[in-house]
Order: sequence, then structure tokens, then C-alpha cells
Amino acid sequence: MGPGVWERPRLRKYQLCIRPRFSLTALDPKAWRLTTAPMMDWTDRHCRVLFRHLAPSARLYTEMVTTGPLIYGNAEQHRRHLKFTEVEHPVALQLGGSEREDLARAAKLGADFGYDEINLNCGCPSERVQRGAFGACLMAEPALVADCVKAMIDAVPATVPVTVKHRIGLDYNESYEFVRDFVGTVADAGCGVFIVHARNAVLKGLSPKENREVPPLRYDVVARLRTDFPALLFVLNGGITTAQQCVELLAPSATAPHGVMLGRAAYHDSYMLAHTQHALYGTPLPTREQIVGRMTAYAEREIEATRGQQFHTRVRDVARHMLGLYSGQVGGKAWRRMLSDARLLNDNDPDLFRRAMPYQSDYDDHRQPLLDALSG
Ligand SMILES: Cc1cc2nc3c(=O)[nH]c(=O)nc-3n(C[C@H](O)[C@H](O)[C@H](O)COP(=O)(O)O)c2cc1C
Repeated sequence: MGPGVWERPRLRKYQLCIRPRFSLTALDPKAWRLTTAPMMDWTDRHCRVLFRHLAPSARLYTEMVTTGPLIYGNAEQHRRHLKFTEVEHPVALQLGGSEREDLARAAKLGADFGYDEINLNCGCPSERVQRGAFGACLMAEPALVADCVKAMIDAVPATVPVTVKHRIGLDYNESYEFVRDFVGTVADAGCGVFIVHARNAVLKGLSPKENREVPPLRYDVVARLRTDFPALLFVLNGGITTAQQCVELLAPSATAPHGVMLGRAAYHDSYMLAHTQHALYGTPLPTREQIVGRMTAYAEREIEATRGQQFHTRVRDVARHMLGLYSGQVGGKAWRRMLSDARLLNDNDPDLFRRAMPYQSDYDDHRQPLLDALSG
């Protein structure tokens, strides 16, 4: 049956037959209230530790990991792709793939590694991903996604939810029925949580970057899904840039999403995550200096623990995610400059963070000799 054919009575069937496969705690809507987005090359484990210090209540998503290296790799390669630090909990592994057996095995590996959730990517529009026939193009094949999701659910313990991240449509098709039927079919297979990047994916003619900017955001589609599927949880993603916006989007109402997911804003201006945590949970706001202190200690521990290993941690691996910590602040430009300077990074000394830190009173006096040397 093609998209757009099902009518409302069919939807009621979905609502009745969604199997309560998760423990109540796992499906507690609060668990998804604040989440950070999966972002390739950005949200590696060091980035997630930074996010954790900024937002202790957030649920953190890994970059997409394709099933290939997990299926064919050895134990060392698995560790390389799946390793995370305990402080990251709750942390979700995002998988990319479309073969049910492979996804099931990769999901099991993730659950065995200790991930709190396994998420399937049905939103990435890149050509490379399309060639592998997964990501956003999977939205055109809801029955296949349902099959994969069912296999993944069967492969992991009931305490580990299997969730899906998707778009609201493909190309220029704005039919609500398309996304409604996608969600309905996948929910029928046992998926209870949908993370919705609230814009279409255009599979031909737009780059991945343009696909995050050009198709218009339509939050109203998520509100409709929320109304049509009261038994499911929906997390809204796309274009959220401030803590205040999160508070407003989550203000209780029949159509409000259960959670928000922050991507680029959390990366480029990471302290906005601390503001969002503070605004949503009322927890004390850490200072940027405290965050720098914790990340310095983390980098020291990491360098020590991985010394001599093939994939050892370097200061630059941690530093690159911290460039946005002082975004918009006095002294923020010099902070960025120092944390991206090859000569300073080559020393591999986490004390660089402390030395590069702007102080609000005499913010760049203590750094002036170093900055002068960099210009020389
Ligand atoms: C550099 C980059 C890499 C991304 N990689 C992924 C990915 O691996 N999986 C995924 O589902 N989405 C990926 N996305 C999309 C984000 O998860 C998110 O849906 C998108 O950026 C919209 O949210 P935002 O407006 O808050 O940034 C990526 C986005 C960026 C900027």
C-alpha cells in the first residue's frame, strides 16, 4: 500500500498494537527532554565528555557508526568505534545501515558495550550514504525500516530502546501522510521514540550542508505526529539555537514534543548547552572556567591512560571540540586561536587550556606574551 493511502482508523490500530516492549523507565519521556545530536566527525567521545560537563542531564548521541566496521572488524576495531567514558551515560549509539542481520549484530555489540540506546539513522542525505542505500533514503522504505528495527529490538535487552532519527519527507514531497505512515509502520515494529529533524531531505541536488539549511523547518509536522501518535515519544530537532527556545518548545501542551535535540548550536557555542541545562532543570550554572578545569583533568587522564597505544589521545583531539566554549565572549577569539595553533598543540600539554583561558577582569594580559610569540 503506497504512502498517503492509510486513513485514520488505521492509525488507531497502530496505537493499540504498539507493543510495550520497554521498561517504563526506558520510555520515561524525561529521558529524552534534552538531547545532543549525532554529528559525524564532531560528536566523538571527547566532544561528548565536554557536552556532559555542560549538560549533566542531556542524553548524548554518538556520530553515526556504519555496520561494516562492527560486523567485519576485530575486537580492537570495535573498541575504537564504540569506546566511551562512563560519565557519558546516558549515551546512545547511532547506527547506519539497512541490512537487518548486520544491524541486529551491530545493535547487540552496542548494547553489550553498555550503550543506553541504539538509534537508527534514517535522516542522512549524503550521496555516500545513499550509495549504501541507508540514511534518509530509508524513509521511502518504511517496511524495510520496520523489519530492521524489529531485528534490532530482538537482538538487544528490553532495557535498551531502539529508536529512529528521521526527516519529515523526501525531496519536495510535503505530504504529511508520508511521514505519518513511516512513523506508523516503524512504531508497529516496536519503536517507541522518534527523533524528527523537522525538514525534508533532498536526495539529489543539495549537499548535506545545504540539506541542513535549505529545506524549510516545519515544526507543525512534529506537533501533528504528536497528536496522531499519543503513545509514542517525539524529540524535535533542527534549527534550535537558544535555551529560551528550548523552554518555549517544551512548554507543556498537547502538541509539544517530549524533548529537543541540539546540534550545531551546541557545538559552535557549547556554553549554550549549560544555559539550556540550567533553564530546563534549574541546576546551578557552571562557569566556563570550571568546565575548562574539568576538561583539563579529563585530557590529562586520557593522555596518561592511552600513552603508547596506537590510537592514543592528544591534546588536539580534545581541544578541537572546545573552540566554541568562549564563543561571543571577551577574549574568545584569542582562546580559539591558541587552541588551534599547531605549535602550542604539539607540546601536547593539557595546561594549554588553562593558559589560553580568558579571564574576565584582565582577560588577555596573562596571554599577551604567548599571543605575541604566535604572531611572530
Ligand atoms: C557536521 C555534522 C554531521 C552530522 N552527522 C550526522 C550523523 O552522523 N547522523 C545524523 O543523524 N545526523 C547528523 N547530522 C545532522 C544533525 O544530527 C542534526 O539533525 C542537524 O544538524 C539539525 O540540527 P541542528 O539544527 O540543531 O544542527 C550532522 C550534522 C552536522 C552539522
